[in-house]
Amino acid sequence: MDEMQQMWERRYAAGEQSPDGVAPHPEVVALLERLEREPRAGTRTALDLGSGPGRHVLALARAGYDATGVDFSPTAVRVLEDALRRHGLPGRGVVGDLRTWSPQEARQQGRADVPQEFDLVLAAYFQHSLELLRNASGWLAPGGTLLWLTHAPDSVDGPPAGVPRPGLEETLRALEGTGLAVRRAEEVRTSGTALDVVLEAVRAR
Ligand SMILES: C[S@@+](CC[C@H](N)C(=O)[O-])C[C@H]1O[C@@H](n2cnc3c(N)ncnc32)[C@H](O)[C@@H]1O
Repeated sequence: MDEMQQMWERRYAAGEQSPDGVAPHPEVVALLERLEREPRAGTRTALDLGSGPGRHVLALARAGYDATGVDFSPTAVRVLEDALRRHGLPGRGVVGDLRTWSPQEARQQGRADVPQEFDLVLAAYFQHSLELLRNASGWLAPGGTLLWLTHAPDSVDGPPAGVPRPGLEETLRALEGTGLAVRRAEEVRTSGTALDVVLEAVRAR
């Protein structure tokens, strides 16, 4: 485990919840409500990147998705899986380091239950290299939606100095060449102290 992974594992092992709360982010709630109104065939799959103890995996499962959460904290994944089972919801947590993780690799390592493409890929406050955004765009099924939410550079809320805070333009540039169509890209003030970069993009059918 590197220092960052140890830091998150220590926090969750001490019983901490996600630093951003236990209720799903309002942008996630709004997107799920909108997608619910779109026609669909069969069960939809969803992937939450850096899922922590699972506030969004639970919301996705409650909305009828076959949801997968990936986090490199084993404790966070255990808490997430316990919550799914406690509420009788389907879905799964996977311990993985998203700097190298992929659904294909997870399957090769014996996780036959991990879908290989997703109707919805979500990253909420996963302040990471934008390389991951490009990788994740390749995991979308045709017609699938990517929602990428990060703390904007000027947000009062957010991670300590040194953790990446890409702005809107930089985030948009990372999508170039991925084949995704941008549906929404803006900075949204979600509280007096929170300014978020919100990017929503879709893969063509
Ligand atoms: C700010 S928390 C956000 C948790 C969750 N997305 C939410 O909105 O509540 C960031 C999460 O990313 C996870 N994380 C950070 N770097 C990671 C990596 N390289 N691979 C997997 N998970 C990572 C941390 O363990 C932590 O749970």
